[in-house]
This record gives sequence, structure tokens and C-alpha cells, in this order.
Amino acid sequence: MITRNKGAEDVMPGESYIWQRVEQMAADIAGLYGFREIRFPTFEKTELFVRSVGETTDVVQKEMWTVKGRESSYTLRPEGTAGCMRAVLQNGLLNESLPQKLWYQISAFRHENVQKGRLWEFHQFGAEMVGAAAPSADAEVIAFARVLLDSLGLDDAKLHINSIGCPECRQAYYDKLREYFEPNKDKLCATCQSRLDKNPMRILDCKSAEDKAIAKDAPMITDYLCDECRAHFDELKALLDGMGIAYEVDQKIVRGLDYYTRTVFEFISDSIGAQSTILGGGRYDKLLGQMGGPETPALGFAMGMERVILAMKAAGFDFGEPSTCDLYIASMGDAEGHKAAILADALRKDGFRVETELCGRGFKAQMKYANKIRAKYLLVIGGSELETGKANIKNMKTGEQIPVDLEKDLAQAFMDTYVADRIDIECGDAE
Ligand code: HAM
Repeated sequence: MITRNKGAEDVMPGESYIWQRVEQMAADIAGLYGFREIRFPTFEKTELFVRSVGETTDVVQKEMWTVKGRESSYTLRPEGTAGCMRAVLQNGLLNESLPQKLWYQISAFRHENVQKGRLWEFHQFGAEMVGAAAPSADAEVIAFARVLLDSLGLDDAKLHINSIGCPECRQAYYDKLREYFEPNKDKLCATCQSRLDKNPMRILDCKSAEDKAIAKDAPMITDYLCDECRAHFDELKALLDGMGIAYEVDQKIVRGLDYYTRTVFEFISDSIGAQSTILGGGRYDKLLGQMGGPETPALGFAMGMERVILAMKAAGFDFGEPSTCDLYIASMGDAEGHKAAILADALRKDGFRVETELCGRGFKAQMKYANKIRAKYLLVIGGSELETGKANIKNMKTGEQIPVDLEKDLAQAFMDTYVADRIDIECGDAE
């Protein structure tokens, strides 16, 4: 048997309803904030990611899945922002009224060391807002992420924010960083040695334990922010305070992707082990310009679906029951099976989830199966039911039997039964 690759996961039917629920909640909340869905390809030209994510990042240097095609080099998207912005530019979305607010649900691919919550193929729910420069846009995007996580039962996920400034305020900072790392240059990993000249801030984000130790007391960007970047960050913090959104300013957040400017943020969950960042994002005001479009402010976030579902399970989130069968029609004999198939077909066309016997099971095994699929009602078609056209629909929970006429409008009878039971259940709940 050929087995699944490491770093990839199957989502089986017993689990897929959980994904559907999370995806639906995310889409609903996105709608509340005025975001519309966008879909874009799984692969792009490699150059897109090199230019946007950045050639000195771990993602580009070590983690991309790249295929050399006949005409070009292609890469499976390691994240969504680059492809989303490419689509925005290519399809002229900037000509429409701004801001454009977009969300996506995607698979993404990174060749990382596989561990719990870190996969080669993973999934993101992402949101991007294009055309808004004000700190209130940052606050709105962060509030959206907060509400989303809260509604997924992850209100204990902590928000960490930082500002990593703009290219202007970074010049002085880069000089300070180079000064700081220079005495230990030889002890840094080979990748970081090459980063020292080009992009010393990336060293702060290196996964190597030795480099992390060397970077421990490195100067912080927040001390080098220009007046505009500082004012932007101060206003964002004041807005978050006003919205009652708790945060911690975490100067260690630099993010692993090069396109960020000013605000960066992450939501951290303590319940899922080392890969604890369940959502990350920030502002990227220079990216569209770098990609050949007009310079346009933008920002967004992406939530890791696998990590969020792990955290929801750890928090004991009630996913409810997967949708079950409304009615199971058991039958004995060929003529009865024939009738059951026709009744099932008619009831499905009326919107009921109906199952009937397809595997030649005996009566006892059919009863077992009806219980297993958690059928809410049972209809048995035997010889006498077939002959008289009279049968009973049994409520599997209460055992109550409701007489029905198979030749009249079974769907209506079933609907009446179903609705009557619903009302009972709802009244019962209210008590
Ligand atoms: P990111 O922080 O690289 O940001 O990824 C976002 C989230 O995806 C992470 O917080 C994590 O939950 C999940 N994730 C990342 N890598 C893996 C992996 N190998 N296995 C499982 N989950 C993973 C971005 O991707 C940016 N595009 C976010 C953004 C949107 N910034 C602005 N707009």
C-alpha cells in the first residue's frame, strides 16, 4: 500500500465537519467586517515569492516547494498574501473603491521540520485589506482576528503586537544590529552570516538555538522608530485600549516574512505545544509597489487552521454533532427493498436525509447500522407494510411510534412528525 507523505494530513469524514464548522464561522465573521472571498492559484512563479516574501527569509531560502517547469520555475504557495496581491493587481481591483477587503481559505506549503502543528502542507484562513493607511485599519483587522478567535472559543489566545517601522527608520536600526552581531559573527549559522549584510533583522527570527542565544540582547526596533511610525503605533494602541482588546507589546516579534512595515502581530495559544502562534499578520505598505503596482498601503493576517483546531480541541470546544440521518428505512425482502429505495428517493427530494439498506444486511444488522449512523427515526418495511400500505415511523430516542400511510404523502407525514418533535425538544430545552 502506498502511504501518505509525512508533513501532510488526511481529514476523514469524522473530522471534516469540524473543519466545515470553523471555515463557516470564519467566513461569516469575515462578512460582518465587510470582507469578500477571493480565490487564487495554488502555485505561482517562484519569482513572486522571492520578491515579496524576501530572498533572505527562511521561507524562501529553505522552505519552498519549487518545480522547474519548461518555461519557468514554479512554487507551491508558502502563504497567501503574495498570490492574493498578485491577483489584486492583475485583475485591477485597485481601480474599484478602496479599501478592498478580501478573505481566503487556502492550502499552503513549507518544507519545515515536521512536528505537531508544523506541516509541509497546511491550511490558512487569511484576510487582507488594501488601500487603508490609517491606524484604525490596523485596529479593525486586529479586532476581526480577536472576534474570530473568541468565537472559536480561543479567548485565552494572547495578542502580541509590535511595530517594525518603515525602511527609513530601519536604516539606523540595521547599523546598530550589525554592530551588535559583528563580534559574534563567526558563531552565527551560515545563513545568518550572509544575512548580516543584507537584512540583519532576519537573524532575530532564526530558528537555530545558538543564534537565538546570541540574539538575546540585540537592540530593539521599537527604540529606533521614526516619528510617523511611532505615532501610528501609539494611535493603534490607543484604539485597541478603547476597543477593550488586551495586548502585550512584544518587541521580539519581527515576523518571518520580509514584506512587513510598521504594525506586526501574533496570537499565541499556550495549549498546543511549541508551535503556539495560531494567527499572525501585519501591515505591508511597500509590497504592492515592490510587485510593480502603485504603492498602496495594505495589511492582513492568516490563521493556521490545523493549529486553531488543535487549540479548540484542547479548550474543549463543543463542535456539536456531525449532521446525521433523519430517517433510516429498514426492509426485508426484495420487493420491500424496492419500495424502500423509491420512498427514500422521494423523501430526499423533499429535503430529508434518508438512508436505506444497500449492503444486503439482515434485519438485526440493519437495526445496528441505524443506531450507528444515529438515525433519528426508523421506518420498517416488511411484508405486511407493503401489503397494507400502513407503517410506523419510530422516534429512535423516545421509542414513540407514529402511524403513517405509505401510499399517501409520506413526506408530509414525516415533516409533521419531525416538526412536532422539534417543538417538543425546543420546549423541553427551555424548561
Ligand atoms: P505566517 O505567520 O507565516 O504568516 O503564517 C500564518 C499562520 O499559519 C501561522 O501563525 C501558523 O498558525 C500557520 N502556519 C505557518 N506555517 C505553518 C506550518 N508549516 N504548519 C502549520 N501551520 C503553519 C503568513 O503566512 C502571512 N501571509 C500572514 C499575513 C497575511 N500577513 C499579512 N497578511
